[in-house]
Amino acid sequence: MKISIIYWSGTGNTESMAKLIQEGAVSAGAEVVLKEVGKATPADVTDADVAILGCPSMGDEVLEEGDFEPFISSVEDKISGKKLALFGSYGWGDGQWMRDWTDRMKKAGAVLVAESLIVNEAPSGDDEEKCKTFGKSVV
Ligand SMILES: Cc1cc2nc3c(=O)[nH]c(=O)nc-3n(C[C@H](O)[C@H](O)[C@H](O)COP(=O)(O)O)c2cc1C
Repeated sequence: MKISIIYWSGTGNTESMAKLIQEGAVSAGAEVVLKEVGKATPADVTDADVAILGCPSMGDEVLEEGDFEPFISSVEDKISGKKLALFGSYGWGDGQWMRDWTDRMKKAGAVLVAESLIVNEAPSGDDEEKCKTFGKSVV
């Protein structure tokens, strides 16, 4: 199984999640390509069996607007029937950005293959296992 993990991370928390998720998916036998969103193309989403997308809560409970939001906009009309999983880190909020993002991807016709995973700031303790299990569960 071919998995793409595409993420944006300003201070490294979502990147740490991405690497743990990769570890989990690889341990379950998947072939995983991990890319920072600036290096990704829509084909990384459309050609993968499952695309795992990661972005922290930014602005006021929105996706990061410089790179990640434009990338999501560019694939939004190409993901009908596509298997996706979403993750990201947050700070002081309650996860509204992830609920909105999940709904948005469902409205675009994507099939969410795992419950969207959110972690407060840097993944530590139990979070690390949750990230690995998330990666495994997608496979
Ligand atoms: C400009 C900016 C806006 C943010 N807005 C929110 C927000 O609306 N809600 C929230 O829960 N956290 C917010 N945060 C906190 C980040 O989501 C949190 O620090 C996260 O761990 C950053 O992930 P990263 O290290 O992958 O960049 C914001 C952080 C920054 C820098």
